[in-house]
Order: sequence, then C-alpha cells, then structure tokens
Amino acid sequence: MEVLVINGSPRKDRGATGGILSPFVEGMKEAKADVDVIYSKGLDIGDCRGCFNCWTNTPGKCIQNDEMTEVLAKIADSDILVLATPVYVDGMTGSLKSFLDRSIPLLHGRFELRDDHCRHPRRAHVKTEKLALVSVSGFTEMDNFDSLIHHMKALSKNLGCEFVGSLLRPYAWMLDPAQEQDAPVSDILESIKQAGYELISEGTMKEETLATVARDIIPREEVIKMMQGYFGDK
Ligand SMILES: Cc1cc2nc3c(=O)[nH]c(=O)nc-3n(C[C@H](O)[C@H](O)[C@H](O)COP(=O)(O)O)c2cc1C
Repeated sequence: MEVLVINGSPRKDRGATGGILSPFVEGMKEAKADVDVIYSKGLDIGDCRGCFNCWTNTPGKCIQNDEMTEVLAKIADSDILVLATPVYVDGMTGSLKSFLDRSIPLLHGRFELRDDHCRHPRRAHVKTEKLALVSVSGFTEMDNFDSLIHHMKALSKNLGCEFVGSLLRPYAWMLDPAQEQDAPVSDILESIKQAGYELISEGTMKEETLATVARDIIPREEVIKMMQGYFGDK
C-alpha cells in the first residue's frame, strides 16, 4: 500500500500538524504501508497559471517545468492520499491550496456526468483510491473544521476517489509534551497512531478512535485563559 502524505503546515515537522502526523504515519507503517511525506511549503513550485495547456497542447503536463512534475507522478502512484493542514482562516494553508491547484494535469479537461454532477474524468495512470484529511485547529470547537471537510469531500469526488474520513485535533497545541504534566494526552497520541493503523488495515478510521483523538482536554474557559496569558492584548 503506497501512501502519500502532504503536510501543508509552514511549520513542517515542528508544528502541531507535524505533531499528529508523526504517530499517524507510525501507525500506517506498522500496518505495513509504504509512506512518503512531502511538505507543500518546501516545494519549488509556481502557482497554477490557469492557461489550461495541461488539458490542450501538452495533455497531462504542466508547462511549468518544476518540482510538481515529480510530485504529480507520486500522487498518481499512491493508493491513499493524505492531505494534512492546520486550519488557516477557516480553510487550508495557502501552500496546500496552491499545490492542489497544480494537480489538475491528473485529470482530463472534458466534462462528464458522474453522480448526476459535471466532473472531469481522471487520467488512466492515476491509481489513487482513497483520500483522507488530517487537520489541527487553534480554536476548540469541531465546527472549525467544517469548511475543510466540505472542501475535501468535494475534492475527493472530483478526483474520483473515496473520501475515507478526517483525523481532527482541535487546540492541538495542547499535545505538546510540555503541557502533559497538567493534562495527560497519551491516550490521544495512542489513538492517532491507531487511526493510522486502521486506515491501512481496515481502509477506514473508526469513529471511536477519531472521537478519542478529538476529545476535550480541558474546559474551553481554561483554554481561553491560557491564550490570554500567551497572546495578551498585544
Ligand atoms: C494565519 C493563521 C490563521 C489561522 N486561522 C485559524 C482559524 O480560522 N481557526 C482556528 O481554529 N485556528 C486558526 N489558526 C490556528 C492554527 O490552526 C493552529 O495554530 C495550528 O495548531 C497550527 O498548526 P501548525 O503548528 O501545524 O502550523 C490560524 C493560525 C494562523 C497562523
């Protein structure tokens, strides 16, 4: 099983996204997946120019000859694509969005009707079967992930793959080992790893596993106080 993970956080492995990806990837590897992690921020790629050459003059190829050529081949070869991002202004990070804009050479330009909806057929060499979302937020409520989930479900349909669920952790900065003395989170970290294992071994992540990952750590009034202490009124 080939898994390609795109980490969209500009903070890469140092960030909260990287913090939950680490046990998640460990779980997937334990289930014998071959996992590759790419950072959208570090890629040397330009923004999509909107020229549609990849659908007309150079089918399947972007006219920008940059690192995206290699990454598109990796996406096409993956069985599972995991898109990971912190919530940024109620959506994904800019670098991940730019990255996804550059993925359209994987599709044909023509329209077809699928599920009574206009979509682009994907190219024959694309074997990606499943797409999963991994996300972290600063705020405490789960509805902060709603726009992202909506986006990922739509993207999965347009890419012609199955959306297999979302691993979500609100106020994810609480998972920092420095916080652990006051509020133990080892069950959360264990469940993140378990979710990775389940995704590979069962093709999906169990609801109870995801619920443990997203569980309350401290009351949100305390979260607000902590943030007041951290950011103040500066
Ligand atoms: C520019 C920016 C926008 C953000 N927007 C939101 C937001 O809309 N909702 C939210 O819950 N958190 C928001 N956050 C908080 C991040 O989701 C949170 O800090 C996250 O843990 C960062 O992950 P990282 O360390 O992997 O980058 C924002 C952070 C930044 C820097």
